[in-house]
Amino acid sequence: MGAMTGRPVVIKLGGAALPHREAVLRDLTEAREAGIQPILVHGGGPVITEWLKRIGKQPTFVDGLRVTDAETLDVATMALAGKVNKELVATLNLAGTPAVGLAGADGGWIRARRLTSPDLGFVGEVVSVDPTPALALISAGYLPVVAPIALGDEGLLNINADTVAGDIARAVGAALLIFLTDVPGVKDASGQVSGHLTAAQVKAMRDDGTIAGGMIPKVQACLRAVDGGARAVIADGADPGAIGIHIRGEIGNGTTITA
Ligand SMILES: Nc1ncnc2c1ncn2[C@@H]1O[C@H](COP(=O)(O)OP(=O)(O)OP(=O)(O)O)[C@@H](O)[C@H]1O
Ligand SMILES: [Mg+2]
Repeated sequence: MGAMTGRPVVIKLGGAALPHREAVLRDLTEAREAGIQPILVHGGGPVITEWLKRIGKQPTFVDGLRVTDAETLDVATMALAGKVNKELVATLNLAGTPAVGLAGADGGWIRARRLTSPDLGFVGEVVSVDPTPALALISAGYLPVVAPIALGDEGLLNINADTVAGDIARAVGAALLIFLTDVPGVKDASGQVSGHLTAAQVKAMRDDGTIAGGMIPKVQACLRAVDGGARAVIADGADPGAIGIHIRGEIGNGTTITA
């Protein structure tokens, strides 16, 4: 793992992979002990959807992004920056890994503006990431756990966690960006998982609709991170040891995306 020491590794735990969080967090603890500096970014789609339904709201998505009216923003903030973030932080701290939760709005480190086309309500696109708070936590020995709620011009904005993970990876000069989700990787038109894809292949699959829904912001984020010099991996959160395998650069399950 020597080559990775000194350059952070960004790991995005999808809401869809949250049921496997215990094993994922154990992997993270191991990586830390091996000298890797992980930054954990999480989603929480299923938790948001569950609570929206409890208040009688039907979730809507456009190209994998959640349409966010004022009530949905409230629920997303409570779910992401509250329940999901604090449960992850609690699990890590109980396991002996000092972890601190950080929303994008804290210290104003992730700034965003409202997406206008399409207009999805309080959904932001990232304007800037100032990694100072996350790097300060790492220097002090804490693992930053990032909730994708950013600071807009007028208040909070909901940001897709994949997008944020890609932007953070770029801002900190990450060597590796790993997405843990609920599928074993990026599937081609025949449904087979591709072990390796180039940026050009990913773009073609996005344009012809092979890559759809929640996979769209994920590959977009991979393309951004790859452009910034990182290696990007999309793997199954249920796959034990996935983080370690990809940190060590071994051939593992999942899809690796390179320039
Ligand atoms: N070509 C493809 N290969 C694999 N999955 C795809 C593809 N196109 C679309 N998908 C969908 O993308 C989904 C993963 O994205 P999704 O947003 O649901 O999960 P997540 O990002 O891990 O969770 P969250 O959004 O809560 O953080 C898969 O479950 C699958 O249905
Ligand atoms: Mg998603």
